[in-house]
Amino acid sequence: MPDLNTPALMEKILRLKEQRNAIILSHNYQREEVQDIADFTGDSLELSRTAAGVKCDVIVFCGVNFMAESASILSPEKKVLLTETGACCPMADMITVSGPRNLMTFFPGYKFTGEYTFPVDFTLRDIKKLYPDAPVVAYVNTTADVKAESDVCCTSANGVKVVESIDADKVICIPDRNLARWIAKNTKKEVIAWDGFCHVHDRVTVEDVVKARQEHPQALLVAHPECRIEVLEIADHVTSTSGMLRFAKSSDAKEFIIGTETGLLHRLRKENPDKKFYPLRKDMVCPNMKKTTLNSVLRVLETMTNEVKVPEEIRIPAKRALDRMLEIK
Ligand code: 13P
Ligand code: SF4
Repeated sequence: MPDLNTPALMEKILRLKEQRNAIILSHNYQREEVQDIADFTGDSLELSRTAAGVKCDVIVFCGVNFMAESASILSPEKKVLLTETGACCPMADMITVSGPRNLMTFFPGYKFTGEYTFPVDFTLRDIKKLYPDAPVVAYVNTTADVKAESDVCCTSANGVKVVESIDADKVICIPDRNLARWIAKNTKKEVIAWDGFCHVHDRVTVEDVVKARQEHPQALLVAHPECRIEVLEIADHVTSTSGMLRFAKSSDAKEFIIGTETGLLHRLRKENPDKKFYPLRKDMVCPNMKKTTLNSVLRVLETMTNEVKVPEEIRIPAKRALDRMLEIK
C-alpha cells in the first residue's frame, strides 16, 4: 500500500468509491477522519435502515462485524465489505447458539468483577429451554446465527418499544444485561436478562458520574443504555448514540457530559459548535471500533476483499428478526 498523505488518501478513496458504485457507512464511534469520509454516519438502527434502503453495488462498512453482517443480511444482493476483519464486538460473542461463549473478562483498563447469572457453559438454546414461552429479543450486537434463533432484534434506540410490541408478558433479552435492566425498568413486562456486558460502558461507576458532575456542574449527563443501571438511574437522559446527537441539538443546555464511546464527541462538537461536550471517562474507547483507518477503507476498495456473507439458512431467519424490528416505527 503506497504511503499517501491524508488528502491524497481521501481523494483516492472518493475516486474508487465512484468507480465501484460504493457507499461508505460509518458507525458514530469510528475515527474522526473515517466518519468524515463516510456517506452516512449513524447509530446501529440508522445504519441497518440505510443498508436496507441504499442504492449501490458495494457497501464499505466501517464498524464491527455484527453491523456488516446485519447489512449483508438485509441486502444480500450487495457486496458488503468490512474494513477490518478483526473488528469484532466482544459483547456479541458473550452468547452463542450452542458452542462456548466468550468469557473474556479482562480488557485494557477494565476487569469484570461481577458474577454470571447463568452457568458459564450456558447457551441461547439452554435459556430458551428454561423459558419456553418467552420470546427472545436480540440486541443487534449479536452474531447472525444468534439472530436467526431469536424472535426479534432491537437496538439501544428502540429496545423498550420492541419489548412493548411483543404479545407476551415475559421476554428474554440478550446479550447485554445493562440494556435488559434498562428495558425492564421501562416496561411492565418481565425481562429475563442474559449476563453479557460491554466493557467500554460497564466500566463507568457512580463515582465517575459524581466526579464528572463536580468538574462540570452546569452540564447535563447523557448515558448510553449499555452503562450500568445505577449510572442510568442518575443520568439526565438515556439514549442511543444518535439519540444523544438529537438531544444535544434540541436541548437548551450548553454543556453535556457524554456517557458513551468517545468517538461520538466528534459529531457532537461538529454539529453543535456553540456547545461544550465532555467525556464521562476519557478511556471509554472501543479498540475494535478504532481498528479502521483511512488506509483500511482504501484497501478494501482497491482489493474488494473482506466480504461479509451470511449463509442463506441463517440469513433468512436472521432477516426475519431484523425485519420485525424495522417494521416497528
Ligand atoms: P448505538 O446503536 O447506540 O450506536 O450503539 C452501538 C454500540 O455498539 C454501542 O456500544
Ligand atoms: Fe461492542 Fe461495546 Fe465496542 Fe459497542 S462499544 S462495539 S458494544 S465492545
